[in-house]
Amino acid sequence: MTHAIGIDIGGTGIKGALVDLEAGELASERIKRDTPEGGEPAAIIDVVREIVAELESLELGEAPHLGICFPAIVRDGRTMSAANVSDAWIGLDADALFGEALGRSIHFVNDADAAGFAEAVYGAARGQQGLVIVTTLGTGIGSAFVYNGMLIPNTELGHLELDGDDVEHWAANSAREREDLSFDVWAERLTKFYSHVEFLFSPQRFVIGGGVSKQHDEFMHLIKVETPIVPAALRNNAGIIGAAALAAR
Ligand code: BGC
Repeated sequence: MTHAIGIDIGGTGIKGALVDLEAGELASERIKRDTPEGGEPAAIIDVVREIVAELESLELGEAPHLGICFPAIVRDGRTMSAANVSDAWIGLDADALFGEALGRSIHFVNDADAAGFAEAVYGAARGQQGLVIVTTLGTGIGSAFVYNGMLIPNTELGHLELDGDDVEHWAANSAREREDLSFDVWAERLTKFYSHVEFLFSPQRFVIGGGVSKQHDEFMHLIKVETPIVPAALRNNAGIIGAAALAAR
């Protein structure tokens, strides 16, 4: 099978597409809906069901694998945290819940890990030796460690506490938007975050993903660290592509 469906559930939007696994790119249009207010499990599952039905109506032939990524710690298919969604997710067997609701088996994974896996296989972490730290700057801050091409899951660097608060509360792209920060001011905050992570883990490179990565020209060069920083090659589609690729693996 050369195609799989990927769904990326975020704190703000839910996106899905058919993915070409050979090319590592979208093979259909991207369907996007707002994340329901409150981020409750039943409401999110309904939206995912709609998106999957729409994708399946594209006449895909044999049902392809389906991967779903989500902004929480995911262990053995269970969501173990909830940062920008309802607390009702904590401890849920999400893999089984989505499987039942969609009437098929699915693969459930953390969103940043999906993005990191996609960058490792098709993008900016491909072929890299040593440690690459992939971060997503969106509603929260997600992270994935890729060591010699292998994903080390659930690293949660957005919840590093610096200056008395979780980094993602003051350095995520949502903080930039909420506080209407200039890219210069935002980059000072990002420098604080990335230099601390650099000190702790000494990676070979940082990859920055998330929706704002398409504006990388505006802020990436303003982040003052020693480690090379590159934008995610798959931009904001890395989650969809990685979720699909992990499901098909
Ligand atoms: C969550 C992570 C997630 C990140 C990006 C954080 O708040 O704890 O699991 O990867 O947001 O969505």
